[in-house]
Amino acid sequence: MKTEMQKRIEGHSQIAYELEICRKYGIDYRAQKGKWASAVERLHPKRLQLRVAAKIKETDTVSTLRLVAASGHLPPFQAGQYINLLVEIDGVCTGRPYSISSPPNQIAYYDITIRRVDNGFVSSYLLDQVKVGDILQSTGPAGQFYYNPLIHGKDLVFLAGGSGVTPFMSMIREVTDRMLDRKIHLLYGCRSPQEAIFHQELLELAAAYANFSYDLVISDPVSDYEGLTGLIDADLILSRIGSVEGKTFFICGPQEMYAFTIPELKKLGVPDRRIRRELFGLPRQIHNDPAWPKEVSSQSVFTVKLSNGQEIPARADESLLMAMERAGIVVENCCRSGECSLCRVKLVKGQIFQASTAKLRKSDHQAGFVHSCAAYPISDLEIRL
Ligand SMILES: Cc1cc2nc3c(=O)[nH]c(=O)nc-3n(C[C@H](O)[C@H](O)[C@H](O)COP(=O)(O)OP(=O)(O)OC[C@H]3O[C@@H](n4cnc5c(N)ncnc54)[C@H](O)[C@@H]3O)c2cc1C
Ligand code: FES
Repeated sequence: MKTEMQKRIEGHSQIAYELEICRKYGIDYRAQKGKWASAVERLHPKRLQLRVAAKIKETDTVSTLRLVAASGHLPPFQAGQYINLLVEIDGVCTGRPYSISSPPNQIAYYDITIRRVDNGFVSSYLLDQVKVGDILQSTGPAGQFYYNPLIHGKDLVFLAGGSGVTPFMSMIREVTDRMLDRKIHLLYGCRSPQEAIFHQELLELAAAYANFSYDLVISDPVSDYEGLTGLIDADLILSRIGSVEGKTFFICGPQEMYAFTIPELKKLGVPDRRIRRELFGLPRQIHNDPAWPKEVSSQSVFTVKLSNGQEIPARADESLLMAMERAGIVVENCCRSGECSLCRVKLVKGQIFQASTAKLRKSDHQAGFVHSCAAYPISDLEIRL
């Protein structure tokens, strides 16, 4: 017997008829109710509870946290993806993305490898305060910086700088562990040999596997250093890989590395579609961006009015997201590089400086949305969360 409401739903009779057929001859889909949602939650959970199983010192300034599931399991990921670690420090709830450096075929744990940043808010906390046994919270694995067999071919060149080697470590370990049919050449730039993370393991992998080769390039060598030195420029790339033909280049490192390396690859005739890059966050000194309005001092503090009437202070040299977090306002975020759009807010009034690397959709522009992790206040603002 149909209720009045059911009669008003277009197509209801047809659905009821199909359900009847299913019940008689096949699957009754009502039994599946909720199963898809639980499968999606298993593969793409919004939050993970992780226990620190080990803390491994890599260099004087870098350690790896080995994270296991505090309950349940760890979802699968693609080598090159990251998790956003969500922490509360001195009452401020914030997050920082860290690439997973362990390979995806290792399903018992995620390794994240953290380099200490001078006056770093979260990196110092993770390296100094977090200990084995602690429980941390994170997002599920995310990010687009991974190998796609349909478009990237089988000949890959990785250009890494500093802690930017971490997503490559996951990819290299996967290819060598699983003996995948893929060739990788890693050019790893560091200031000094002591700063090179995973150096010994990389040397051993290169010696053991014919499809992996590795060069460490030192930019500030001591006088008797015998290895490769300088910056990873066109000549050096060509001298190590022979030809760029048919190769796909992946770059990960500090901002300056992209500004330098991409033109060098262009000199060699590498097309855009053969260059993939991962951003490790935004510049720490955004006011050094050539497009920054010179009349706005990086020391300026503006007032941001929120939709509920609350007013908070916001520094010009900090992202809007950071200002909200300092004021105790929790905004969903993941990449913190202006890419994923999770931290979107509507700018009702005022002006912001949007980092050039932020990837806003056309519709965001039209509707006045900004990515708060990549938006810096340059006047008083009014925003809607
Ligand atoms: C996709 C991706 C992957 C990454 N992978 C890695 C990786 O594998 N390894 C790695 O080492 N790094 C990685 N990073 C960088 C990492 O996310 C952090 O940016 C880095 O560790 C520095 O964080 P930090 O908090 O120490 O420093 P910052 O973010 O520079 O912290 C200093 C800032 O914290 C803010 N701050 C200071 N005090 C407070 C306070 N009381 N309240 C609120 N804010 C405050 C200030 O604005 C200050 O500028 C990755 C980044 C991205 C985007
Ligand atoms: S957190 Fe991804 S765009 Fe801001």
